Amino acid sequence: MTRPVLQLEDLRVYYGTRQGDVKAADGVNLTLSKGERFGLVGESGSGKTTTALAILRMIKPPGKIAGGRITLDGDVDILKLSDEEMRMTRLSRIAMIPQGAMNSLNPVVRVKDQMILTMRTHGEPGNDHQILQRVEELLDSVGLQPNVADLYPHELSGGMKQRVCIALAISMSPQVILADEPTSALDVVVQRRIMQTLRTLQEKLGAAVILVGHDMGLMAQFVDRLGVMYGGKLVEVGTVEEIFNDPKHPYTQLLISSIPSLDRKRDFQGIPGMPLSLHNPPTGCLFHPRCPHVMEHCSTQEPIEITFDSGRTALCLLYNEAHIDKEIADGSTA
Ligand SMILES: Nc1ncnc2c1ncn2[C@@H]1O[C@H](COP(=O)(O)OP(=O)(O)OP(=O)(O)O)[C@@H](O)[C@H]1O
Ligand SMILES: [Mg+2]
Repeated sequence: MTRPVLQLEDLRVYYGTRQGDVKAADGVNLTLSKGERFGLVGESGSGKTTTALAILRMIKPPGKIAGGRITLDGDVDILKLSDEEMRMTRLSRIAMIPQGAMNSLNPVVRVKDQMILTMRTHGEPGNDHQILQRVEELLDSVGLQPNVADLYPHELSGGMKQRVCIALAISMSPQVILADEPTSALDVVVQRRIMQTLRTLQEKLGAAVILVGHDMGLMAQFVDRLGVMYGGKLVEVGTVEEIFNDPKHPYTQLLISSIPSLDRKRDFQGIPGMPLSLHNPPTGCLFHPRCPHVMEHCSTQEPIEITFDSGRTALCLLYNEAHIDKEIADGSTA
């Protein structure tokens, strides 16, 4: 296996609130290979944006990175970089298309000025003329006319603004692109075209992508592997085929079975129970109050991650049990 471009080990991000710490990312482990497209799904509030922001050390108070390790390219310990080193790493090595990105552009600053300033801030060399030329090349690469450089964001459509954000994200040829619901506010046709552009550029750069989103159809088309988050934990990781054809975690099983399809129209199934509140999380497995396969000890025992033969993982006591039984059968436990 090639050296991972990004590795998260036991990443913990907590938000301090009056009622105590909200564990928005709680022990996240993830290994991303060079050029890989990885999808992060899970219900609202499950910690997807928090995880992405933590990778760029952009968690703001009352949030804090409470523990774990983030390693870039095998040897850069992100959490140990100085603020200046981190600034130089953002955009040039890890770029983000933030959630609601198109609203992140300043409506009263021309596109070219925003792009030049951002690139400069993150260490792009070259004089004004050279950077402007680069801005035009970038706009062209995302399918925008050069005159867009002179426009203000309020003169652009949502899709065009999103393309500007993609142009910015790839402007310094990052190794990792974090795309947080990059197309969720756009209509389906524009959405598919923009994802196609992102994919072409990502492949050209050889950059890995973490795509955050809810749209399982889009995920299936775009990513190689999927991670499913629930309550700040990655409860399942596998290839798209594994997750769609043979989901292991009961939450993933419900997620997959609730994807609407014409043949399944009649037995549409949602996910039962109340969405999780991280202010007052249940004991044991966080999913146990909603789980159709709940067992007695699920409310008292925290599941540990199980790695299956193919390398896929799941965080569920159903498999812990199977694992323990197998170990006993093999005589591998004392
Ligand atoms: N600034 C904050 N202060 C307190 N709690 C926060 C803050 N930001 C996020 N949280 C909490 O952290 C948890 C994870 O939030 P996050 O935004 O990472 O979820 P998400 O999976 O990206 O959701 P969505 O799909 O809605 O974008 C939620 O419970 C949220 O309420
Ligand atoms: Mg989010």
